Amino acid sequence: MADDPLVTIDRHIIDQERRRPEATGAFSNILHDIAIAAKIISREVNRAGLVDIVGSAGKFNVHGEDVRKLDEFADEVMFNTLDHTGHLCVMASEEVEDPIPIPDEFPCGNYVLLHDPLDGSSNIEANVSLGTIFSIHRKISKGERGGLEDLLQPGHKQLAAGYVVYGSSTMLVYTTGAGVHGFTLEPSIGEFLLSHPGMKIPDPGKKIYSVNEAYYKRWSPGQQKAVDELKDAGFSLRYIGSLVADFHRTLLYGGIFMYPADAKSPKGKLRLLYEAAPLAMIIEEAGGGSSNGAGSILNVEPEELHQRTPLYLGTRHLIEAMEAALQSDG
Ligand code: AHG
Ligand code: MN
Ligand code: MN
Repeated sequence: MADDPLVTIDRHIIDQERRRPEATGAFSNILHDIAIAAKIISREVNRAGLVDIVGSAGKFNVHGEDVRKLDEFADEVMFNTLDHTGHLCVMASEEVEDPIPIPDEFPCGNYVLLHDPLDGSSNIEANVSLGTIFSIHRKISKGERGGLEDLLQPGHKQLAAGYVVYGSSTMLVYTTGAGVHGFTLEPSIGEFLLSHPGMKIPDPGKKIYSVNEAYYKRWSPGQQKAVDELKDAGFSLRYIGSLVADFHRTLLYGGIFMYPADAKSPKGKLRLLYEAAPLAMIIEEAGGGSSNGAGSILNVEPEELHQRTPLYLGTRHLIEAMEAALQSDG
């Protein structure tokens, strides 16, 4: 087949599905629906400055964080795009405290979706890149309709993981465990086109570390020493403050992203199920590493829906060096 420049995400998903004899098409439909939600969110994110959708919704989410109108909009788009398709048995969102049941009037399916509908929302007004992060699991509970048991699965059980980065262009990156593939939205035709087939993190890659150094004094001695050593080794600091944007740069350029635990946030800030685990699946599929400081994020057994975790994502050798430095904390 000649290099066909126009591989749409739908065509790519179908090609991937053909390689999995057990695939039923439901899974492909979920990815297709997420791509539709991403297009709708992208349109609003790119118009944020023009319509009265920027700014606070005057509410706080389960984490006590100020919910921006765009957070709410993105959450509603994800729900309304996926609640009626019959492929999911339960959903979870960063913006919703409890498991989100599929409405009774709709049938349930064999899949589970967890998502951060809009990541980096504190940056909305500053026109800084934002993102959406999603994680897909298989239903494991016995009943017809899913529940918490289906949501509290470890990262290594994920069927698929992905993110959308709403930046200078809108990109959707996903993996089903058969490589990491990136698609760029061509707005003139409203299609995500394959632009980054088979993404691999460059190793050693660029000397970049990404962490909010404002918290240096709250870090453990091992964390402080590790960052000091990166500086001595000539690393540059790049920190956008949107996890998806910082992650996307790390995947493309190499280096390491860190959101450590600290004296104020002993479990870290980022959430395991819909921020850390999906990005960990992606980076490990791309040849990099993930860690909570002690071991791969994918092996962490979740206990609560919104539980937080320290998070390290980057090239394998930098993750290993970071884990060694943190071991010295005892
Ligand atoms: P969200 O907007 O989904 O709540 O995520 C915000 C997160 C993440 O995007 C970013 O890495 C982190 O907050 C930045 O936190 P600090 O401002 O503490 O550095
Ligand atoms: Mn987030
Ligand atoms: Mn969010």
